[in-house]
Amino acid sequence: MNSSRAVRLRHPAGPDNLRLENAVALAPGAGEIKVRIRGAALNFRDGLVVNGFFPAKDGLIPLSDGAGEVLAVGDGVTEFAVGDRVVSTFHPKWLDGHMDRAELDNAPGAPADGFACEETTRPATHFTRAPQRWGHAEAATLTCAGVTAWRAVITDGRVKPGDYVVVQGTGGVSLFALQFAKMAGAIIIATSSSDEKLARLKALGADHVINYRDVEKWGETVIALTGGRGAEHVIEVGGPHTIGQSFVAARTGGHIALIGAAGGFDIDTMPFAIVQAKRLKLQAVTVGSRRDQIEMVRAIDAHGLRPVIDSTFPLENLGDAFRRLQSGGHVGKICIDI
Ligand SMILES: NC(=O)c1ccc[n+]([C@@H]2O[C@H](COP(=O)([O-])OP(=O)(O)OC[C@H]3O[C@@H](n4cnc5c(N)ncnc54)[C@H](OP(=O)(O)O)[C@@H]3O)[C@@H](O)[C@H]2O)c1
Repeated sequence: MNSSRAVRLRHPAGPDNLRLENAVALAPGAGEIKVRIRGAALNFRDGLVVNGFFPAKDGLIPLSDGAGEVLAVGDGVTEFAVGDRVVSTFHPKWLDGHMDRAELDNAPGAPADGFACEETTRPATHFTRAPQRWGHAEAATLTCAGVTAWRAVITDGRVKPGDYVVVQGTGGVSLFALQFAKMAGAIIIATSSSDEKLARLKALGADHVINYRDVEKWGETVIALTGGRGAEHVIEVGGPHTIGQSFVAARTGGHIALIGAAGGFDIDTMPFAIVQAKRLKLQAVTVGSRRDQIEMVRAIDAHGLRPVIDSTFPLENLGDAFRRLQSGGHVGKICIDI
């Protein structure tokens, strides 16, 4: 056992109540590894936790995503050795295949402690290898946003070359979805709130872009851009504000990956008629399994993909990182160097 540091969220929750405190890192027991966390990343969800919208215990260590190097391995660990570069998984109990509800109850960053810390000791199965050529903070972007996008586009979506894929906004999930869909040979239609961000989306490989502030009925624009056919896949992160246009944008029999509500929950829309008329396939996403993460890292290594990083903050300035997230000005991931 030795001493290291961690940021804890104290009550009442808020970015001003993130405190850098001493923490204890245990020696690894059987089946565990001790990891020097060197990078972490923020998600929309972490913002809900730190701002008190998602209940969390007093003293929670926030951030669901962490990456670093193995400091020590416990008895029986054969998958990792000291010095290996690893990245955490979002659902530590969901290893592969079918997911039971009980496998989703201990996500790091709430309700379990997360990775705003220097050292942590956990079962080896709570990590996978990191991409070979990525830095630690880059690798941390994969745990939640990367695996969610991989699940939506590849595991569930089975996107094929020539498919049209709609992605919404310039957040972490959407940009990974853009990159994975592009890797699979798809044609990307991306929406965003500003022309400046649309230019970034173009530079990142979007084939068509739509400003959803200027074009309220952007689903019809998608229909026009696809020659009347509609998009095979819509990666839906906006929620009640965007779902209606996502249904319009979809092709008959199209796949809608139901992921988030970044646009807010303040309206309630569920236009059943169009879902039925188009025989749409609605597939909800809850990040993904350890197997999804292993396969995603393999694809990243094979294709030389790089994550889109908006900005990086030191652990001491975690509150500023959350203020950046809250501003909505970010494009891609906000990271933490530890
Ligand atoms: N179900 C799951 O497994 C899962 C996993 C991860 C995330 N999520 C959810 O997915 C959503 C995105 O997460 P994230 O971490 O990628 O968020 P993020 O990095 O904070 O990005 C959010 C982005 O959403 C875009 N946005 C906001 N309102 C929009 C609207 N009405 N239409 C289109 N885009 C809009 C904005 O981009 P622009 O300014 O460019 O429009 C904003 O920057 C959140 O609701 C999150 O809770 C769910």
